[in-house]
Formats: sequence, structure tokens, C-alpha cells
Amino acid sequence: MKVLVVYCHPSKTSFTYRVYEKFLKGLQDAGHEVTISDLYEMDFKTDLSEEEYLRETYYRAELPVAEDVKAEQEKIQTSDAIAFIYPIFWTEAPAKLVGWFDRVWSTGFAYAPNPEMKVLDKALFIACAGKSLESLEETGEKSAMETVMLGDRIRTRAIEKQMVIFDNITHWNEELGEATEPVHLQKAYELGKSFCGDKSKGESIIIER
Ligand SMILES: Cc1cc2nc3c(=O)[nH]c(=O)nc-3n(C[C@H](O)[C@H](O)[C@H](O)COP(=O)(O)O)c2cc1C
Repeated sequence: MKVLVVYCHPSKTSFTYRVYEKFLKGLQDAGHEVTISDLYEMDFKTDLSEEEYLRETYYRAELPVAEDVKAEQEKIQTSDAIAFIYPIFWTEAPAKLVGWFDRVWSTGFAYAPNPEMKVLDKALFIACAGKSLESLEETGEKSAMETVMLGDRIRTRAIEKQMVIFDNITHWNEELGEATEPVHLQKAYELGKSFCGDKSKGESIIIER
């Protein structure tokens, strides 16, 4: 299967980067073909220009789509599935990934009229959180993030959709971090290894956290 991985974190010394490495290893061990969009590495432009705004709001729908956006859309069209890996910043993805959606989910591609975007087999979000899962559930922040990502941004654009949160990634509490990190990294590897299941065995393993 062809998998597009959209990775978004400013630092390679981060926990999120280690998750990304493990997930990739799992995908590769399972024999998937991987394409990567590392948004900080690419310095992907994420602010809408005035022209893009005018196009997206149909004031001037005839305006062209930018080349860097077309390149991302082409990666989606030639993939079977997509995975996003990022840290949670203020109950959202980093602004760079939010801006990627603002630009890449363009009119005529991801939404009306006549969206060309293919329906993907799977969309997976791996989000790394400083807070505990219990706290994200209690405050409604977890369901808010699921609504935005799985509900609005993916909606019917993928058959299977899933958000996995790796929680308690606190660097001020070394003890907690040291306890949770190996467990999360093992799960990141398994998520890659079992991505969309091993179709030859007709099974699909999903590990939720
Ligand atoms: C600007 C900023 C905002 C953050 N907001 C949240 C948040 O809303 N919820 C949360 O659980 N963690 C939050 N965090 C913690 C990050 O999610 C943390 O960086 C993440 O757990 C992964 O660790 P890493 O940066 O080493 O990869 C925030 C961090 C930053 C820098």
C-alpha cells in the first residue's frame, strides 16, 4: 500500500520525532511504500495569500492553484492512505499543519464544486500530548480534536479514520516521561506495522490509546 506521511514538528530532538521514526520503521517492515511531507523541513508555506483566499471563497474561483499545493495534492492522489504525526499545540495541530489543510484542501480538490480528491482507504492521526488522556477526555479537548480532524477535515475523504493520542509527554516530569515513552514508541511501531492490517492475512489490528 502507498502511504503518505505528513509530519509536522519543528525539532528532531522531540518525542514526536521519535514516534515518527518508529512509525516509519513499522510501515517499512510491513512492506508499505512511503511518501513523506515533512512540513518544517520543506518550509511549507501555510499562510493563505489574498489570491488563495479569493479563490477558496469563490470571489474569484478561476484563480490558479499554487504549484506547492498541487504537489501535495498529487502526493495524495497517488497514495492509498495518509497518516499525520504532530504535537498538540493549544488543542490543535501546530499552525503549520492547520495551514497545510487551509491550502491543500482547496475548492475543486477537497470540497465543492466537483472535488477531485480520491477517497483514501485510511486516515490516521497520531497526536502527541503533554496532558494525560484522562484530562483531555474530562475537558472535552479530545472530542474537540476528533471533531475537527476526523469530522470536519476527513469526513468522507477516507473510509477508515482514526486518531491516536500519545499522552503524558511532559519534559518537566522526567519520571513520568521515562515511564510512558517506551510504551508509546512500541505502539507507534505497531501502528505502522499493522497499518490497514496485513491484507494478505485479511486482518486489521488497531491499537487505541
Ligand atoms: C505552544 C505549545 C502548546 C501546547 N499545547 C498543548 C495542549 O493544548 N495540550 C497538550 O496536551 N499539550 C500541549 N503542549 C505540549 C506538546 O503537545 C508537547 O510538545 C508534546 O507532548 C510532544 O512533546 P515533544 O515536543 O517532545 O514532541 C503544547 C506545547 C507547546 C510548545
